Amino acid sequence: MQGDIVVTVLTLLGGHNTSHIPLSFLFSGTLKKPNIWAEPGSVITLGNPVTIWCEGTMETQIYFLYKEGSPAAWDRLTAPVPDHRAKFLIPTMRAYNAGRYRCYCYNSAGWTQQSDAVELVVTDLWTLRVTVFTFSFKLTLSALPSPVVNSGGNVTLKYVSSKGYDWFIVTRENRFSRSLKAQCIHIGQSKALFPEVPVTSRKSGPFRCYGYFKSKPHIWSEASNPVTIYVSGSSRKPSLITQQRPILAPGEKLTLQCYSNMSYDRFVLSKEGGSDVPQISAHFTQAGKSHANFTLHSVDFTTGGRYRCHGSYNISSEWSAPSDPLDILITGHPPVAPNLSVHPGTTVSSGEKVTLLCKSSIPVDSFLLFKEGAFHSHMRQISKLQDSQYQAEFSMSAVTPSVGGIYMCFGSQRSSPYLLSQPSVSMEIIVSGEMTLIYNQKRLTG
Ligand SMILES: *[C@@H]1O[C@H](CO)[C@@H](O)[C@H](O)[C@H]1NC(C)=O
Ligand SMILES: *[C@@H]1O[C@H](CO)[C@@H](O)[C@H](O)[C@H]1NC(C)=O
Ligand SMILES: *[C@@H]1O[C@H](CO)[C@@H](O)[C@H](O)[C@H]1NC(C)=O
Ligand SMILES: *[C@@H]1O[C@H](CO)[C@@H](O)[C@H](O)[C@H]1NC(C)=O
Ligand SMILES: *[C@@H]1O[C@H](CO)[C@@H](O)[C@H](O)[C@H]1NC(C)=O
Repeated sequence: MQGDIVVTVLTLLGGHNTSHIPLSFLFSGTLKKPNIWAEPGSVITLGNPVTIWCEGTMETQIYFLYKEGSPAAWDRLTAPVPDHRAKFLIPTMRAYNAGRYRCYCYNSAGWTQQSDAVELVVTDLWTLRVTVFTFSFKLTLSALPSPVVNSGGNVTLKYVSSKGYDWFIVTRENRFSRSLKAQCIHIGQSKALFPEVPVTSRKSGPFRCYGYFKSKPHIWSEASNPVTIYVSGSSRKPSLITQQRPILAPGEKLTLQCYSNMSYDRFVLSKEGGSDVPQISAHFTQAGKSHANFTLHSVDFTTGGRYRCHGSYNISSEWSAPSDPLDILITGHPPVAPNLSVHPGTTVSSGEKVTLLCKSSIPVDSFLLFKEGAFHSHMRQISKLQDSQYQAEFSMSAVTPSVGGIYMCFGSQRSSPYLLSQPSVSMEIIVSGEMTLIYNQKRLTG
């Protein structure tokens, strides 16, 4: 009979040894299960405190806390406790505190059922205090296609880690949501893509990502940067421009201006595959127009990318439709300057053909040709390996005077499309028309 079992257990407890009660005895309780929860939450940084609360009733006499996998009661508290809530404090979270906890209560009528489980996870245990700097692998959580998406769309969260975790888990507002088996990129590097995070509310998140090894599912890495997803709507798109060259060297200053003929109160700048979205209050000019300047005082390789901006009114939390994209390119990766040559020569007659040849002995996947004063458009060619040189030809036939100008080329690698090599030397193409005729005439007559 159940009552007898309880009496037996209590006799055991009556002594001072509470630590060897077989858990199976307690599963027989029938009274209403107590409530259990953890404060401040389930995901605790190594060394921080956490409290597990177990809520019983007026009648509760003893509260027991058990950790799954350990045969002994982890702790117990005897009534009275304020509001029938027993407080089990872990002052300093350690790896051995991580796991699943349940509580049980006892009163004169018998034992309660087991409570739901509360899971405690310890983070930051694997943190190596080193800075890893790579160009193509940012050790961050980012949102694809962008942290600002159309209502009803889906976002993919991407996490890349330099450590070879087996699993990644994404949390939303500090609650667990979904874990995913990691994909190995290189030895010791792994990534996970969390696809189809539905964008329902105007703002969701913050999302954070953690990695863990499958043998220790309650011990997680340090948290990634937080990512908040915003929804964009249908109000008129602003324009995104820069007054400077969109090709910058690391260390240069960049100002992007977002403007609209709508009187938006705020603007936000988002980057494709980015994670943070800087917001700025708008500045009003005249006739209901608005603009904001986003300034980066010193760009680096991570700045390269495709940007868009959105406007919004204070009364609404929805962002406007996205501006057209603006690409920002950063030079210096790979750290080489290709060689540019012009054939047959830098002076060509109108209607003739001119070829610019860009070469590099360092591997590059493609070459980009830019013309001074027209940096927002360029020509791109896949490189070919010829005579142990990577090269591409840009041919222009039947040239007109508008082709004349100063050209330079850059190499680029597929893995980092917004990073360019150093520029080649600049070559000026002169398209000869009347000037050359006069010169030729002088030679004839002279
Ligand atoms: C978002 O994901 C859901 C679930 O996979 C899918 O049914 C829906 O079509 C997706 N929406 C868009 C806009 O891709
Ligand atoms: C803003 O500009 C767009 C296109 O340039 C135009 O269609 C629209 O009427 C303008 N709106 C206002 C309020 O001036
Ligand atoms: C933004 O930059 C433009 C161009 O440099 C400048 O004319 C304007 O005053 C700036 N606006 C603000 C609010 O700083
Ligand atoms: C909009 O909100 C910003 C920041 O809270 C504030 O500085 C600005 O004055 C507000 N604009 C209007 C028109 O209320
Ligand atoms: C450019 O040409 C020079 C001289 O032929 C050579 O030394 C250099 O390595 C070349 N640069 C590249 C990137 O191939």
